[in-house]
Amino acid sequence: MTLGPKVPPVIAIDGPSASGKGTIAAAVAQRLGFHYLDSGALYRIVGFVGGERRVNLDSDSEITDITLNLKVKFNGDRVFVDAREVSDQIRGEVAGAAASRVAALPGVRRALMSLQHGFRQPPGLVADGRDMGSVVFPDAQLKIYLTATAEERARRRHKQLMEKDSGASMAALLQDIRDRDFRDSNRATAPLLKCTDATEIDTTGMPVADVVAQVLYLYQKQQNPQ
Ligand code: C5P
Repeated sequence: MTLGPKVPPVIAIDGPSASGKGTIAAAVAQRLGFHYLDSGALYRIVGFVGGERRVNLDSDSEITDITLNLKVKFNGDRVFVDAREVSDQIRGEVAGAAASRVAALPGVRRALMSLQHGFRQPPGLVADGRDMGSVVFPDAQLKIYLTATAEERARRRHKQLMEKDSGASMAALLQDIRDRDFRDSNRATAPLLKCTDATEIDTTGMPVADVVAQVLYLYQKQQNPQ
């Protein structure tokens, strides 16, 4: 598909849980002066609100209904739902597990589609998630698939949690990451997968700055082909 000159460019960054997508995507967006979409936050919000209202997290009709009626607002790192701040609540492991359940519901994924498209504003967008390149922005100018071993991802999550003074055992985190990988990769709707036109970067042992530099290099190369 050829794009008109007016469609803002998108860099889609997909990958499994705790692969560093959020950190890398936010840094790339900042360097380019682009907008940033943390699509996982949307699924976390839906999972969190569904849990709070004690709705069955596997019920597509009930959770889709909640999704369609949510008023979500981002302000930098901060997230608001119906004018209430939920930034900390949605980052926890409980909301993460709930997100992974509601993310399997086709109605919820459809309901979040236009919300996500709305982030594509000039001068451009960096979007991170599981299906940014495959489903939401299939015409993205650059598609990146970030990976790291499950052990490395568990270590990163552990470090993040320790910084916030909330503990969790490495064994439990590793199991959670493996469970989430399995659910995200095996669901029927928009499973986590590497698109054939995505560039894979294995970030195991790589400093953040090197990954950011590599993504920026790939984007410049895409913009100015020799
Ligand atoms: O990226 P994050 O860990 O915040 O995402 C939480 C959950 O939301 C993931 O485990 C995944 O199930 C779901 N998700 C998704 N599609 C996206 C982003 C997140 O299914 N684009």
